[in-house]
Amino acid sequence: MRKNIVAGNWKMNMDYEQGVSLFSEIVNMVKDEVRGNQEVVVCSPFIHLPALAKLSAPVANVAIGAQNIHQAESGAFTGEISASQVKSTGASYVILGHSERRAYFGETDELLAEKVDAALKHYLKPIFCIGETKEERESGSFFDIIKTQLSKGLFHLSPEAFKSVVLAYEPVWAIGTGLTASPEQAQEVHAFIRKTIAEKYGETIADDTTILYGGSANPSNAQSLFSQPDIDGGLIGGASLKSRDFLQIISVFN
Ligand code: G3P
Repeated sequence: MRKNIVAGNWKMNMDYEQGVSLFSEIVNMVKDEVRGNQEVVVCSPFIHLPALAKLSAPVANVAIGAQNIHQAESGAFTGEISASQVKSTGASYVILGHSERRAYFGETDELLAEKVDAALKHYLKPIFCIGETKEERESGSFFDIIKTQLSKGLFHLSPEAFKSVVLAYEPVWAIGTGLTASPEQAQEVHAFIRKTIAEKYGETIADDTTILYGGSANPSNAQSLFSQPDIDGGLIGGASLKSRDFLQIISVFN
């Protein structure tokens, strides 16, 4: 079902106490505000997940997620964390395909397809990130890039399995740069993503898919972005680390 989701991606920030404190603030502020098809998701480092799960359990429409999983079930993968281990913390989402993992950790579309399968096997909902680099935007090849990331990462899924996927369009050139895509630029790509999904899975599934925007979203641009017909919310980096900013972004849907 298509939702209005504001998801925070904390990336590699905050120690245990800081994360629990920030999340407590967020939960206390949103618990009576977020309702219906709106959802707030916080994707924290692994260390916070069990505590955040306990804090979010009694609150409707607030969920937590991880920022990565290993594709294997279990075994000799020192330092890695599996889908079942993340699920056991109480998390219900996992970010996959983030441009930082594609760039810094060499995650390919093929590997990400395996990670998507592992996530779905353990009932974790992937927040699957796609997006073009500055060079790909400037060369005009970004639609092809987006289509390839979608098809290689997700289009092996059955229609039923695909329904659990949340998409996040994150133009790499907008991440952490302050260079937000304009509402028109973002809407153009979101509409293309939805059309591509419709071609594969049909209009109904495409219309029900949640497609988030990420890349320097903040309180001053969230309204204009989220008011676009194919933008269903945001995947928020820096602004999710400040409770006031994150809450202002959430309030766009209230
Ligand atoms: O996953 C969201 C993130 O990549 C966006 O970061 O700091 O540009 O909001 P930021």
